[in-house]
Amino acid sequence: MKTQVVVIGGGPSGLLLSQLLHRQGIESMVLERKTRDYVLGRIRAGVLETGTVDLMRQAGVSQRMDKECMLHDGIVISHADEQFSIDLKELTGSHVVVYGQTELTRDLYDAREAANGQLMFNVEHVQIHNADSESPRVSYVQDGKTYQIDCDFVAGCDGFHGVSRQAIPLSVRNEYEKVYPFGWLGILSETPPVNPELIYASSPRGFALCSMRNANLSRYYIQCSLSDSPDDWTDTAFWEELKRRIPTEAAEALVTGPSIEKSIAPLRSFVTEPMRWGRLFLCGDAAHIVPPTGAKGLNTAAGDIHYLFEGLTQYYATGDTQGIDCYSQKALARVWKAVRFSWSLTSMLHTFPDQSEFDHKMQAAEVAFMKSNRHAQAMLAENYVGLPY
Ligand code: APR
Ligand code: PHB
Repeated sequence: MKTQVVVIGGGPSGLLLSQLLHRQGIESMVLERKTRDYVLGRIRAGVLETGTVDLMRQAGVSQRMDKECMLHDGIVISHADEQFSIDLKELTGSHVVVYGQTELTRDLYDAREAANGQLMFNVEHVQIHNADSESPRVSYVQDGKTYQIDCDFVAGCDGFHGVSRQAIPLSVRNEYEKVYPFGWLGILSETPPVNPELIYASSPRGFALCSMRNANLSRYYIQCSLSDSPDDWTDTAFWEELKRRIPTEAAEALVTGPSIEKSIAPLRSFVTEPMRWGRLFLCGDAAHIVPPTGAKGLNTAAGDIHYLFEGLTQYYATGDTQGIDCYSQKALARVWKAVRFSWSLTSMLHTFPDQSEFDHKMQAAEVAFMKSNRHAQAMLAENYVGLPY
């Protein structure tokens, strides 16, 4: 078989790239290890930068999002019982869009299937051959049969546990990692959100986040121990702990209900350099991971897709390789800023097991400075709405 671009991974990164390429008349084939339903069963974050929204528009996949999304002009930060708003609109002239990543991925799948896109599910043993040559090849097994695809380029969109990053030799690859000593226990509940804007709450008992998917579907998180499992937490225990961490006014207004999903996510910061090797390009979680505190996972992946799509479009239109040659450098410049922001917000709002009293005081002072200083708020706001591509 032959195609122009093989996309390994049918998550949001791979699907967005494949759909953008399709709209440009560039052929691609998506190889996904799981099934569509399995991919759509993953519960992920739900805050989009306007850059991500623009890419969805460019991909021709924004109709449902435009109808169902919520525009948020601000967020709330709280520390114990003190709270203040960060006015994103006033500070940056921009906003964020609340729309579940699962819905975004569903919209992309629908678009690819409507265009008869080449989506291969349940693929196994994906291997990348000759990535550092002019004629890379990808092999995979499906239903016990081995297939070979000759292509021009390979986009490694197969997430943190995929094969693409491993295809870059260790002699070339540098990895940077920080693992946080806690996780996030998240639940979905068919209840109205406690607050019209997201609440990022820090408290002596740990971090909590009040988020949402729509007017009757709320998403809540509490920082938890890495030794916890979802079964350790009854719904009642979760709600009681959440109320202890958010401001009293919100705790009293909180509408609780049965969880329809409950899971724990570990937190890590991770970057691999370079994000390109020969004709292989890493995108999204395959190249970098951020703690969800800043809602930068999908939005940083979107930045990668923007740069790679720009470079591939230029190559196929003119033969000029300038765009793909500077992909890794441009993508990493934006990735590192998102990694810094996510680490900074995580460090400010979470309790750390080995924290001293002095450390607690530093955190409280950082939040107090954020509350009182417009420049500090503007810095947070600029990063939160999304730095320019
Ligand atoms: N072969 C084929 N597919 C694979 C392989 C493989 N060897 N390994 C992983 N995959 C698939 C996974 O099943 C998954 O569907 O690649 C896809 C990668 O998707 P994501 O992990 O969602 O990564 P990405 O598309 O970059 O999206 C980043 O997802 O994890 C969140 O927080 C993250 O919001 C961010 C977004
Ligand atoms: C979510 O709604 O799941 C969400 C929102 C903001 C974050 C993280 C997760 O920073």
